[in-house]
Amino acid sequence: MVDVMDQVSTQAHTDAPLLRVDGVTLQYKTPDHLVTATYRVSFDIHAHERLVLLGPSGCGKSTLLKAMAGFLHPVEGKMTLKDRVIEGPGPDRMMVFQEFDQLLPWKTVLHNVTYPMQVNGVSATDAKQRALDALGKVNLSKFADAYPHMLSGGMKQRVAIARAMAMKPDVLLMDEPYAALDALTRRKMQEELLQLWDDIGFTLVFVTHSIDEAVVIGSRIVVLSPHPGQVRAEINCDHLGLDERTSPEFAQLTGRISHMLFDGQDIAH
Ligand SMILES: Nc1ncnc2c1ncn2[C@@H]1O[C@H](COP(=O)(O)OP(=O)(O)O)[C@@H](O)[C@H]1O
Ligand SMILES: [Mg+2]
Repeated sequence: MVDVMDQVSTQAHTDAPLLRVDGVTLQYKTPDHLVTATYRVSFDIHAHERLVLLGPSGCGKSTLLKAMAGFLHPVEGKMTLKDRVIEGPGPDRMMVFQEFDQLLPWKTVLHNVTYPMQVNGVSATDAKQRALDALGKVNLSKFADAYPHMLSGGMKQRVAIARAMAMKPDVLLMDEPYAALDALTRRKMQEELLQLWDDIGFTLVFVTHSIDEAVVIGSRIVVLSPHPGQVRAEINCDHLGLDERTSPEFAQLTGRISHMLFDGQDIAH
C-alpha cells in the first residue's frame, strides 16, 4: 500500500482534526460471502475543510460516508468526531444523497426542512426561523409552501441541502449530490455550494467520481483506489476552484489524477 501512496502534499494543520478516519476497514456480510468495501483507510478532516472523496464506482465512497454518518461500523480501525468514537447516527452529521426522492412528498418544502429539527427538540418557532433562513440561502424562499413534486431535481437538492444546514451539523456529508443533474444545473449547484461555504464556513465531506468536480469543490482530495478502496493520494487543491477551470494548472492536476485513477497499478492484497 505504502509504495503506491502518492503523497502530493499535506496541509500543515496545527489544530486537532474534527473528524478522524483511522485505519478503517469496512465490510458487508452477505448470505454467502464477505465484501470488503474499504481497506485500512486513514485521513483527517479539519474544521472548515471541503474534503472530497474521489474514486471509481464501487471503491467504497458511499460506504465510508455511511460509516461517518454512523450507519455502519468498522471491522478494523475507528472513526472519531471531536475525539469521540462514532457509534451511531446523530444530528451532528447530516447527509445529502444523490437521489431526488429524499424529501417527504406529503410535506411542504418548509415542513421538510423543519421536520428533522423538531424531531431533535428544536422549538416550532426556532425551527421555522432556521428553515426560512436556510431556504433563503439556497434561493428557495418563494417555494416554502410548495410540495416536492412541484420542484425540479436541482431545486429538490437545494431543499435537501437547506434541511441539512438548518440542523447546524458539525459536518455536512454529501454523496454524489449532483451526479443525476444536467451539466448546466450541476455547474450552478457547484457555484451555490461554494458560495454557501463562503457565507457560512461549514465542514464538508463530498463524494464524487468526477475528477473535475473534485478539484472544483475540494480544498483537499482523498483519492481512493478501486475496490476495495484504499487511500492512493491526498491532494491539496484549495487554490483551484470554478474560476481556474480553464487554467493550465487545473488541466495538469486533473490529468494527473486521471492517470492515477485509470492507469495506476491495481492494489492487491
Ligand atoms: N449493502 C451492501 N451489501 C453488500 N455489498 C455492498 C453493499 N453496499 C455496497 N456494497 C459493495 O461494497 C463496495 C463499495 O460500494 P460503495 O460504497 O457503494 O461504492 P461507491 O460509492 O464508491 O460506488 C462495492 O463492491 C459494492 O458492491
Ligand atoms: Mg456511491
